[in-house]
Amino acid sequence: MTTTRKAPWWESGVIYQVYPRSFQDSNGDGVGDLRGIEQRLDYIAALGVDAIWLSPIFPSPMVDFGYDVADYCGVDPLFGTLDDFDRLLKAVHAHGLRLLLDFVPNHSSDQHPWFLESRRSRDNPKRDWYIWRDPAPGGGPPNNWISDMGGSAWQWDEATGQYYLHAFLKEQPDLNWRNPAVRAAMTDVLRFWFERGVDGFRIDVLWHMIKAEGLPDNPLNPHYRAELGEKLKLLQIHSTNQPEVHDIAAAFRALADSYGDRLLVGEICLPVETLMHYYGREAPGVHLPFNFQLLDAPWHAQSLAAMIIAYEAALPAGAWPNWVIGSHDAPRIAARLGEPQARVAAMLLLTLRGTPTLYQGDELGIGKVEIPPDRIRDPQDLRQPGMGLGRDRSRTPMPWDGSANAGFSTAEPWLPLNPDWQQRNVQAEQHDSGSILSLYRELLRCRRASSALALGAFELVAADGDLLVYDRFDDRERVRVALNLAGNAIKLPFDFDPAAKLLVGTHPRESMGDMLRPNEGMAFRLSGPAAA
Ligand code: GLC
Repeated sequence: MTTTRKAPWWESGVIYQVYPRSFQDSNGDGVGDLRGIEQRLDYIAALGVDAIWLSPIFPSPMVDFGYDVADYCGVDPLFGTLDDFDRLLKAVHAHGLRLLLDFVPNHSSDQHPWFLESRRSRDNPKRDWYIWRDPAPGGGPPNNWISDMGGSAWQWDEATGQYYLHAFLKEQPDLNWRNPAVRAAMTDVLRFWFERGVDGFRIDVLWHMIKAEGLPDNPLNPHYRAELGEKLKLLQIHSTNQPEVHDIAAAFRALADSYGDRLLVGEICLPVETLMHYYGREAPGVHLPFNFQLLDAPWHAQSLAAMIIAYEAALPAGAWPNWVIGSHDAPRIAARLGEPQARVAAMLLLTLRGTPTLYQGDELGIGKVEIPPDRIRDPQDLRQPGMGLGRDRSRTPMPWDGSANAGFSTAEPWLPLNPDWQQRNVQAEQHDSGSILSLYRELLRCRRASSALALGAFELVAADGDLLVYDRFDDRERVRVALNLAGNAIKLPFDFDPAAKLLVGTHPRESMGDMLRPNEGMAFRLSGPAAA
């Protein structure tokens, strides 16, 4: 393998997702803000990541906590001002980091001036900026589409006698991306931020942006079970993933490329084969269509191996992989697997081939957080109570230290802290070489120092029972990663190379040995020729 091509920064880079409401409050209102993030940049830089992705910071009624945008070119006063943003961006760059914003093009807030105009009358020039339809012939919503947050995806507007479409909350009307005026306005939005110097965007629900012409009913999902949540009642084949979405992605990409070294990451929840189309069909699409498979992958060596191999095999020529293990929408990895396996999961995430995205707080091992019913804020949870769909549990404030409110705020935080915050906080973990935070830092340091881990090829060595072993290699080195996915010791199924050098492990180790302890993971550099 030759490595003559200079990889763009984001291929060897690691993305860190900051959920601004919950990172650091600087003005004592219990909600995080931009100045707060600026104060904590040393922490992010020392962690060893390359880029920060900020969940939405734009003016918003906050019905969906910023994913309902009322002005795409501003900053919500809760988070600060545009000047604060410029300061933050400068400080991010001064720390050697990059900054990605969250672009929410599928829908705006119902308080966006575009929608306020659109709903004013049927002949308003902005009427066709959104998706309005007459009732079905016998009355009722124009088709059977269900909102991702539950209930019909159509909202009746008494004043103008039509329904409008909302794939999420009724306060989040879907924009009509078949309208060239919408495309032009949104291109201006991207330019606005690119020109301010942002390094790229994460694009919210990219696969939702275009709906099938004629808006036909979606078919029933034969595998639906009530506990999955209402949105899975139907197969969203007409409301999402239409071929024309790729023209839009290609236009975003061409625009990003015209500014140089910028990155576009797409949020797409689709099976792997379809996901791959978002790398681009006729023309390049987004650089990284998010790969969410680790979020709910069964934790068994064979199925993980099969998933990794199938994903690698499905990648189009030249496409760069990526992996995600947590987000503001998904349950915490340590809540799902427990801390010992969350450490193994960290090793997996940071040693697979592809750009990893870390979610704030996962590096501290934050696990289960019960949100008392009177403190639930997530609209998804409030609309479908008791289904376990709540996202607040992953959005609790960063615990920085053992002081009041964990150093997050001088006021009561908008969501409760993790119950173990007095021990599980940045300050405590920073001073503990055995903490999961220290492991994350070590993994990130190793990844940066190893060309094979950063950019090398992937090769499966063994997947058996609870043991997963793979190599990463380039023409300089071969690094072997061995992970024990369970709580029993396992004998390694290969002859141990006595000259191998341990690079990083979940547990301290004097020598290599031929056993993995319960929940142990290690990565070591093999001696001898690197390439197979
Ligand atoms: C994305 C966001 C999620 C939001 C939804 C609607 O999935 O990650 O938080 O609710 O889009 O914008």
